[in-house]
Amino acid sequence: MRSRANWSELLPLAVDPASDRPIFQQIYLALRSAVLSGALKPGAKLPSSRQLADRLSLSRTSVVAAYEQLLAEGYVTSRGGSGTFVSDEIQVPEAEPAGTPPRPAPGRRARLSSAGARYEIFGRDLSVGAAEPFTAGCCSVDAKTINDWRRVTSQHTRVFERSNLRYDQPEGDAALRREIAAYLRAARAVQCDDAQVIVLSGAQQVIDLSIRTLLDPGDSVWIEDPGYIPTREALMAAGARCVPVPVDAQGLDVAAGMAAAPGARAAYITPSHQFPTGAAMSMARRQALLAWAARSRAWIIEDDYDSEFRYAGRPLASLQGLDRNGTVIYVGTLSKVLFPGLRLGFAVVPPSLVDAFRGARFLTDRSPPTLHQSIVADFMQQGFLTSHIRRMRQRYREARDILVSALERLLSDVADIEVPECGIQLVLHFRKPVSDVAIADAARAAGIIVKPVSPHYVRAPVRHGLVLGFSGFDNRQLRTAAGKLAALVQAELAHGKRTAGRPKSTAGR
Ligand SMILES: Cc1ncc(COP(=O)(O)O)c(C=O)c1O
Repeated sequence: MRSRANWSELLPLAVDPASDRPIFQQIYLALRSAVLSGALKPGAKLPSSRQLADRLSLSRTSVVAAYEQLLAEGYVTSRGGSGTFVSDEIQVPEAEPAGTPPRPAPGRRARLSSAGARYEIFGRDLSVGAAEPFTAGCCSVDAKTINDWRRVTSQHTRVFERSNLRYDQPEGDAALRREIAAYLRAARAVQCDDAQVIVLSGAQQVIDLSIRTLLDPGDSVWIEDPGYIPTREALMAAGARCVPVPVDAQGLDVAAGMAAAPGARAAYITPSHQFPTGAAMSMARRQALLAWAARSRAWIIEDDYDSEFRYAGRPLASLQGLDRNGTVIYVGTLSKVLFPGLRLGFAVVPPSLVDAFRGARFLTDRSPPTLHQSIVADFMQQGFLTSHIRRMRQRYREARDILVSALERLLSDVADIEVPECGIQLVLHFRKPVSDVAIADAARAAGIIVKPVSPHYVRAPVRHGLVLGFSGFDNRQLRTAAGKLAALVQAELAHGKRTAGRPKSTAGR
């Protein structure tokens, strides 16, 4: 679609009345050079001669003369009554358009911080999942959710209150924080009042802010092994010392953590639905972890990223809800429960940390977007989130069952398929030696997106498997993609490829 942004109105044009060069020629040259440098792209609209004359406090005659010359030389075209546009025929230099920063020769760039150097490596290999099966975190919305969302959005954009025009509090909109606190108390047994809720742009920002706020370079932190790669990366960028703690069917092995680093400053865990294994942390381990944190004055960062959709078994309360010592920072997000494009998450912090998080939020990006927050607050307050969760729970349970039964039919001889009791993704582990990274790469080439499990491990022994998201796809897509994936797995097994010595792939993120 052609841009209607009218950037030409913002061009810093100026004329010098003292110059020997006639005014009309100065305008002509300035516009011509904007066209030739690519500052004004083909199709861009020029201001009307009257607007430009007003802006430069000139007689219109000079501007008209400049436009006529540009027209005669083919730099611009005139389209009937709709105005003057940069000609589509103009060849804009592609290599160095205006605004391209100069690139220093390799090795001549100023130094990055050590965090920056890690960010650079991580950023190089980042691929944002396409919306193909089985991309994790692709959510479904049905017609009712879209309708409810539109209704609330249009109410807010129609009214457009003065409050939408100013900076918000760093901790976020009061109405939204009230709704989030009420939701978390009911759905996740989180113990909190509104004042403890800090609105942020997703769980990832909560994790990053927690690291900045609670840790110094060199501090030891327990991380789950296998575990969530972006947290590990953020910790290492901050100079923390990651202590990998093994995970089994009961979640993080607290005794192993205490043996490895009893004096760690923090532990990052996903107790409700461990990423990537899917394990739920047992009550005994939860109590042991809380007791350790209280004893050694450590923080626990509880990432509760996707436990709203529960299909079977008893609902597991949050770890935060069991904490009596103010050690837990609860990390929540609307990315799974609604959709990740919202970029809305929240921290629930102990009262003693509220000011530190407010300050950190301000210094990072000041405050969350106001309009967005009031829409979500109303969406929640009118009961639309609850009904969305109710309907999507059914939809996702059906998707899970379809995928599980397809995988069991096609792959049960070579893989253990873990049936998740909650969440929007499942994991399968291979029983035979095969490279999950090679399968993920082959699958990507065939238009199927899966996360290999092995890159999530820090220490051996490493298990090979795949994480498959099932929440954003219809039944036919799930069955077809399961069939294709099974064929790829069987082909990889038939080739007898081994994991050792394989090049690193980007598919793990
Ligand atoms: C374990 C875990 N934590 C955090 C996140 C980040 O969520 P958000 O989109 O809210 O930043 C994800 C996203 O998939 C996740 O899997």
